[in-house]
Amino acid sequence: MVAAVIGVPRELHPHERRVALVPAATALLVQLGLGVLVETGAGAEAGYDDAAYQEAGATVVESADAIVAQADVLVTVGAIDPTLAAAVDGRHTLLGFHDPLGDPSALQRLAATGATVFAFEFMPRITRAQSMDALSSQATVAGYHAALLAAGRSPRLFPLLMTAAGTVKARSVLVLGAGVAGLQAIATARRLGAVVTAFDVRPAVKEQVESLGARFLAIDVAGEEQAGGYATGLDEEQHRLEQEALARACADADIVIATAQIPGAPAPELVTRAAVEAMRPGSVIIDLAASTGGNCACTIADEEVVVGGVLILGPSNPAAGIPGTASDLYSANVRTFLQLICTDGQLAPDWDDEVVAGALVARGGQVTAERVLERLARMGTE
Ligand code: NAI
Repeated sequence: MVAAVIGVPRELHPHERRVALVPAATALLVQLGLGVLVETGAGAEAGYDDAAYQEAGATVVESADAIVAQADVLVTVGAIDPTLAAAVDGRHTLLGFHDPLGDPSALQRLAATGATVFAFEFMPRITRAQSMDALSSQATVAGYHAALLAAGRSPRLFPLLMTAAGTVKARSVLVLGAGVAGLQAIATARRLGAVVTAFDVRPAVKEQVESLGARFLAIDVAGEEQAGGYATGLDEEQHRLEQEALARACADADIVIATAQIPGAPAPELVTRAAVEAMRPGSVIIDLAASTGGNCACTIADEEVVVGGVLILGPSNPAAGIPGTASDLYSANVRTFLQLICTDGQLAPDWDDEVVAGALVARGGQVTAERVLERLARMGTE
């Protein structure tokens, strides 16, 4: 039987610099008996040229159209480009960040092609699936990048330094949201010598924050934790209390790194315009929630905003800022999932497997994920 072919088109989104499969993972898939087709230049921004893919056993092709025509599985980082989606049909299996809750209508159109679609956003957060958890791998890179961005744009050094010309005070960094990205931002800012304070609505993370050498901000609000460790939104009164307490903490900070997200909902506004206006000129805010509306009222995604001397950056795709490592980790997530759904070089998903069923969002012409169907139904009645 002919082996299944994995296709890797070049990412077309303007802020995307990652690639879904790197040469090391390509070589492993080829060893497993799968074919790999890569569009020319697909890995260039992540540091991988066409020759590296050829050495790994892939075939490099000139156009994405050729990939869609020949591949059984299309692996991408972001949702597949609409120009390519037009040629997708029931033969195809797709794997990537398909934004099932952010853009359910696009997913519905993709489902109508008959393709089978797996979305990394819905990968179950269970121990067995950790090696396929692309949300976590990319959040790790994003958190690191945020701390470096802040250090690069801050007018002052991060660490305490005693020099002949005088003593340099350590910068004070406030991290909002201590999930995967927030914890990595804390660790990175600490390594750079900053004094770090952090807050999260899930009280369970206090210990993790403290184990990284940061202080946990005591605010008397606590959100509920849903399945998978995610936060739910706060009620209005709790949200107001949080904003007030954070305004005081922001005024004391030199740097704010905001990472708070509620899956499937707009990001909570944690830093109001008044809180920004009360910060010292020269302060920097890095808003990692920019793609879902932002944690700061002044954030404009992918633009530099200055309010009263405070710089606010909201990179919409922060993991892509370090495309090599982000691609290496993402590619390992892709490869592990492909190993799960392929046997002897053929696609053979076990539909009853918790991980396969969890990540599946469309099959047989229909959106299959409950949460997306609910979202579509709500959109239909609004
Ligand atoms: P996320 O990206 O959805 O949110 C980031 C953080 O923002 C979360 O910690 C959340 O509690 C916090 N947040 C939400 N609203 C907030 C508010 N109003 N104020 C302050 N903070 C707020 O979360 P992420 O990073 O994807 O991780 C969420 C959870 O999933 C964590 O508990 C993590 O440990 C868990 N997890 C479990 C894994 C596993 O078991 N395999 C793998 C990865 C993460």
